[in-house]
Amino acid sequence: MKYGYFDKEKKEYVITRPDTPLPWINYLGCEEYCALISNTAGGYSFYKDPKERRILRYRYNNIPYDRGGRYLYLRDNKSGIFWSATWQPVIMPTAKWSENGNSLFSIPEGKKEDYIYECRHGLGYTKITSIYNGIHTITTYFVPLKENCEVWMMEIKNNSLQDRDLSIFSFVEFCLWDALNDMTDYQYNLNIGETAVEESIIYHLSRYRVERKYFAYFSVNQKIEGYDTQREDFLGRYGDLSSPRAVREGKSNNSIACGWAPVGSHNVRVHLKSGETKVLIFVLGYSEDKNDVKRVVQKFSTKENTLKELENLKNAWDENLSKLWVNTPDEDVNLMVNVWNQYQCRTTFNWSRSASYYESGIGRGMGFRDSNQDTMGFVYQIPDKVRERIIDLASTQFERGDARHQYSPLTKKGNGEGYSDDHLWLVYSVASYIKETGDIKFLSHKVPYEGGKKKGTIYEHLQKAINFSLKNVGPHKLPLAGFADWNDCLNMLGPNKQAESVMVAQMLAGACLEMSKMASLAGKKSDAVKYEKLYKKVKDQINKVAWDGEWYIRAFDDNKKPVGSKKNKEGKIFLETQGWAILAQVADKDRAIKCLDSVKKHLATKYGIMILQPSFSKFYPELGSISIYPPGLKENGAIFCHPNPWIIIAECMVGRGDQAFEYYKAIAPSEKNKIPDIHKLEPYVYCQMIAGKDHKDFGEGKNSWLTGSAAWNFIAISQWILGIRADYEGLRIDPCIPSSWDGFEAKRTFRGCEYHIKVFNPNKVNKGIISMKVDGKEIEGNLIPYVKSRKQCFVEVVMG
Ligand code: GLC
Repeated sequence: MKYGYFDKEKKEYVITRPDTPLPWINYLGCEEYCALISNTAGGYSFYKDPKERRILRYRYNNIPYDRGGRYLYLRDNKSGIFWSATWQPVIMPTAKWSENGNSLFSIPEGKKEDYIYECRHGLGYTKITSIYNGIHTITTYFVPLKENCEVWMMEIKNNSLQDRDLSIFSFVEFCLWDALNDMTDYQYNLNIGETAVEESIIYHLSRYRVERKYFAYFSVNQKIEGYDTQREDFLGRYGDLSSPRAVREGKSNNSIACGWAPVGSHNVRVHLKSGETKVLIFVLGYSEDKNDVKRVVQKFSTKENTLKELENLKNAWDENLSKLWVNTPDEDVNLMVNVWNQYQCRTTFNWSRSASYYESGIGRGMGFRDSNQDTMGFVYQIPDKVRERIIDLASTQFERGDARHQYSPLTKKGNGEGYSDDHLWLVYSVASYIKETGDIKFLSHKVPYEGGKKKGTIYEHLQKAINFSLKNVGPHKLPLAGFADWNDCLNMLGPNKQAESVMVAQMLAGACLEMSKMASLAGKKSDAVKYEKLYKKVKDQINKVAWDGEWYIRAFDDNKKPVGSKKNKEGKIFLETQGWAILAQVADKDRAIKCLDSVKKHLATKYGIMILQPSFSKFYPELGSISIYPPGLKENGAIFCHPNPWIIIAECMVGRGDQAFEYYKAIAPSEKNKIPDIHKLEPYVYCQMIAGKDHKDFGEGKNSWLTGSAAWNFIAISQWILGIRADYEGLRIDPCIPSSWDGFEAKRTFRGCEYHIKVFNPNKVNKGIISMKVDGKEIEGNLIPYVKSRKQCFVEVVMG
C-alpha cells in the first residue's frame, strides 16, 4: 500500500504519493477523443488516431521523466512562490506524502512547507489534489461523452487565514498533428506552427491553412490577464517546465506562434478571500467546425454543467460494467472482475496496441491479431461495437486468406503481412461474437477483402483463413511459421522457407472445430462434417509429429529442427503450445495433464508462468529476435501475461481449480499492490510482461495497459474459473473454482436477459455440478438454453 489503495466504493485507485516507480496512468475518452494522463498530469491526447491526429506533444524517454502534459501552475503574487496543482512539473522539494488519502480534507490550513498530494484514477476521469501554501486545489480531468474534447475543472480553495492574490497559468504544448513528422522533420515543422487567440480561447491552427479542416482549441471559462502561444515566450530562453519565465515573473507575453513551437497558456488572476473557493474550467478540444467551439466552451462554462457531464460519464461507465457482476469469497477477484479488468478490456478494445506510455502511437495501429483477441474480452459489454470492429478487421484480409498485420484507425488502411497466425484469430473472434449474440446471420454478411474491390461473406472470409493455413504447410505437414506467429519474436523465416509453427497448427485445429459448429448452426451440414474431419486430421498430425514426451514442442525451424524440445539446449519448453494443445482440444487427457505438469515444473514461478525455459543466453539467428532480449525479458523467458491465462483456462478444462486460481492470482494486478517497488507498474491493470527468474529484476513488470493480457485474463476468470460462458445455444455455467470456496454469486446480462446466478459448493470441489435449477426447475447438464423473450432468469447451481 506504499503508493496507493483501491477505493472500492468509488471505483477509484487512489495514489497517495506522486513519486510512483513509473507513471501510473489512466485513459480518458472511449470514442474518438482519447487522453492519456499520468498520476502527475503528464501525457497526451489525440483524435481517433495517435499518429495522424496527435493533439498534444509528448516526449517519450524524456529527462526528467514523464514531461509534457496538462499543467496548471499557481503563483502567489504577493510572495512570488509558485507550484503545480499536479506535483509535476514544478516538483516541490519539500513534498511530504499523505499516507492516508482520506485525511486530506480535514487539514485546515496545512503547514506552509508541506505539499500534499493525492491522485484518484476513476473510470474515464482523473482527479488530482494538491495542498500547498494554504491553497487547496482539486483538478478533475475527463473526456465528456459525445464530445471531442477534454475538460479540466480546477477548484481552488483558500484554506489560509489571509486573503490571497493568485495567478493561475495553464500550459499545453501542441503536437503538429502527425506525431512521427513532429519528431523528425524539423526544417519543416519548426516553420508551420500557427495560433490565434480570441478572448479566452487559444486556437492551434498549424496546417489549418492547407485543408481548413481541423484544428485544436484551448479555452478557460474566465477572462484572462494574458496568454502565451509561443513556447519560448512562456519558458524563457533555455527555460524548462519546472520554472517557466512567465510563471516566475507572473506575467505572460501575449505571444502568437508563427513557426517554432506552438503552445497554449492562459494566465488567469484569482483573488480568494480566506475560506473562499473558485472554479476554473479549461477545455482542450479537437474540432472541424469553428462555430461548434463556442457551443462546447459554453457547455462547460459552469461547474453545474460540468458536474452533470461528469455524472453522465460515470453513469455510462456503470452501465458498461453492469453486464457482469460477481460476488466471490475473494475481494480482489470482485474488484478486478467488476471494475478494473473490465475497464482495461474496454481500453484495449478501443486502442489495440497503438498508444500507451510504452507504445508511442506512431508504430502500430489496430493490430489484426491483437484486436481480434481484444474483441473476445469485450464482446459481452457492447456486442455491436465488436461487430463493427470485426468488419473493419475482415476488410483487411487478403482474398488468399491471410491478413494485413494492422490498420490505421483513421484511414482504415492496412499494412504489414507475412504472419502465420493473424487470419486464424478472425475465426475465434467471430465465434465469440456469435456465441454472445446468437447472431448467426452475421456469417452471411458481405465484407470486402483487402483493397476493397471484391467482397465475400464473413463465412467465406473464415473459410479462406482456414484454407490458407491448411494449404501453406511445411515438411511435417504443419502450417508454415511465416515471419512470426503469435509470438512476434520467434522469427524463423530462412532460406528454405520451411519453418513450421505447432502453435498455428493447434490454432488451426481449434478453428476447424469452431467452424464446424458454426457451419452446422448455419445449416451447412456437409461443411460441418468437413471441418470436423479437418480438425481431427490436424490434431492427429500434431500428436504424431509434435509430442516431445512430456510436452508439445513449439515449432520446427527452417532446417526442420525442433524448437522447444528436450533436445534443445535452451528454450526447451515453451508455454504457448501447452496451453493451446488443450484450448484447441488437440491433447487427450493424458497428454493434457502431462504437459500442464511440465508447465508447473519448468515454467511456473511465484510471479506467474514464464514463456519459455531456459532463456536463450546468446543470439540464435535461426530463431530471430526472441534471442535478442537478455534472458528473462520479453519473449525470451519473461512471464508473458497474455498467454498465462491460456494455462489457467487449460487447468480449468482439466478440472484443476486450485491450480488455475493460483496462476490467476500470481499475475493479478491487485496482488501487485503488495509489492509495488518490485512490480513498479500500475496495480490496477495488467501489463504485457514481468521479468522472469533468469533476470536480476525478477518480478518487475513492463508495458502496462495495452496488452492481450486484459482480454485473456478476463476470459479466464469469468468464463473458466467462474465458468459463466456464452455458447452458441445459450449460457453455460461451468465453474472450476478453488476448493476452499463455498460458492459465489453473479449477475450476467446475456442476449437481453439478466441471469441471477448462485453457485453453491457444499462438498468443496474444484469442478462438477450435481444439480442445476433454472427458474426453480431442475435441468440436465450445465447449459441454460436461450429463450427469446426472457428478461430475468434465476439460476441455482450445486457443485459436487
Ligand atoms: C505483444 C504483441 C502481440 C504479440 C505478443 C507476443 O504483446 O502486441 O501481438 O502476440 O507480443 O509476441
